[in-house]
Amino acid sequence: MFKTVEYKDGKVRLIDQTRLPLEEVYVECDNYQDVARAIKIMQVRGAPAIGVTAAMGVALGAKSIVTKDFAEFYKEFVKICDHLSGTRPTAVNLFWAIERMKLVANKNKGKPVESIKDVLEKEAVKIREEDIFINKAMGNYGQELIENGDTILTHCNAGALATAGEYGTALGVIKVAHEKGKKIKVYADETRPFLQGARLTAWELVKEGIPVRLITDNMAGYFMWKGEIDKVIVGADRIAANGDTANKIGTYSLSILAKEHNIPFYIAAPLSTIDIKISDGSKIPIEERNPQEVTHLSGKRIAPEGVEVANPAFDVTPNKNISVIITEKGIIKPPFADGIKNLF
Ligand code: MRU
Repeated sequence: MFKTVEYKDGKVRLIDQTRLPLEEVYVECDNYQDVARAIKIMQVRGAPAIGVTAAMGVALGAKSIVTKDFAEFYKEFVKICDHLSGTRPTAVNLFWAIERMKLVANKNKGKPVESIKDVLEKEAVKIREEDIFINKAMGNYGQELIENGDTILTHCNAGALATAGEYGTALGVIKVAHEKGKKIKVYADETRPFLQGARLTAWELVKEGIPVRLITDNMAGYFMWKGEIDKVIVGADRIAANGDTANKIGTYSLSILAKEHNIPFYIAAPLSTIDIKISDGSKIPIEERNPQEVTHLSGKRIAPEGVEVANPAFDVTPNKNISVIITEKGIIKPPFADGIKNLF
């Protein structure tokens, strides 16, 4: 089994997701700047995986601060946190994990700086372990919604690669259902422009022996119209307090197609993806990425020089298009504002 991210011998070790599925290689970061870069260039991606990796980056950065004085330490520590926070704007797990690390540093400020560094290292490792546990719990709740014989459509990659490892969020539900002996089939959207579906979801499912059919994004409506899709399950990068959900670009269109065809539309995400400070989806910052992701395929230009390009990496699915939200604490049904409030 591959390891998405781990903290090993004072280094952050990541499977390089930009090289998958052709090569299974790992990168090692021994400083926080390299961790930040790995997040930015998407060697590691997916909301929970970004959070776990950033926490490890914070721990690594803290180790490099040379002082015995807490005030001085904390000043440098905040700079490191800010650097890591600046990598990607949409997935709230990044900010959630960094805040948690800041809280731990503050809670331990009476201790010698050297032992605060150890506590931070332990906290980052704990965040990773918790995430794996959370995904399994989510999978257990979510699989109850899956029937034997279901065909499930998913978008982007919400698997082990997008989390601390092993199960994943949306793919976690699928994997647990499969483990329970339910016969399921998956349609994986290729997910232009970064191709997380073709490169990563297809790779994970083939590895797990779960039947998967890869389609281009614009085929989803056709297969729904043909009656071949029973359910849609996707992950999330940030869920507002009212249930509006930001996820990979194309998720919103899928939700409308699902609604038109009366297909249940499920979101699987941990509580760390819910941003209760944001009242609705209009307040979620949407990342705009490099135009080259659109104009080029595998480094080769496919669009004319000089063409104007838009490349928003996420869109927002309104809560009215979502059937349920699957979390590690159970399944939230509409009205989501009440369900979310109760869970927090
Ligand atoms: O740009 P990415 O690849 O980081 O986007 C990832 C997604 O949109 C996933 O669907 C989301 O993070 C859920 S992953 C458990």
